[in-house]
Amino acid sequence: MDGETYHCMGLRTKRGIFWTLILLFAGYSVMVYDQGTAHSTGEEAYTAAADRGKMVYHQYNCVSCHQIYGLGGYMGPDLTNVTTSKGRAYAEAFITGGTAKMPRLGLDRQETDDLLDYLEYVGKAGHYPVTDLETTFYGNIIPADGK
Ligand code: HEC
Repeated sequence: MDGETYHCMGLRTKRGIFWTLILLFAGYSVMVYDQGTAHSTGEEAYTAAADRGKMVYHQYNCVSCHQIYGLGGYMGPDLTNVTTSKGRAYAEAFITGGTAKMPRLGLDRQETDDLLDYLEYVGKAGHYPVTDLETTFYGNIIPADGK
């Protein structure tokens, strides 16, 4: 190979390509990070009550039978979107009354309200199972409802 091969592209052209790629990379990164965090993660719903409710969820070991985001025991159904899809009153009925399959755990009024606030936060923070997804042209995955 002779030396010519290495000089077929001028230094200015090489620099031009280099800086174009750097700029494209920077622009793409800004777009991905900006768009990637634009949707709601439910943070506004994480109140002091929801925080207490999380402790109630652990204290009464709901996780031994239920899942959140698919994780937990499998005796009862996943609770991720129970309040946001079936309603707060629906969830409350199970918690306060129990059923033939779910024990009545004897939570007091305050614990029940806090727990429902926590479940509402969980429902706003994500979806389970994740079904309806769209991919943006730059590669981010977003649920079809934009949440
Ligand atoms: C011993 C296992 C067990 C424990 C512990 C338990 N559950 Fe359940 N839960 C179940 C079962 C089983 C069902 C389904 C009941 C039925 O269909 O009759 C259920 C149903 C539910 C439902 C209705 C869900 C739906 O989508 O229909 C909610 C809400 C719920 N439980 C909340 C809780 C919470 C909150 C706790 C903790 C305070 C808890 N459960 C503790 C077993 C349990």
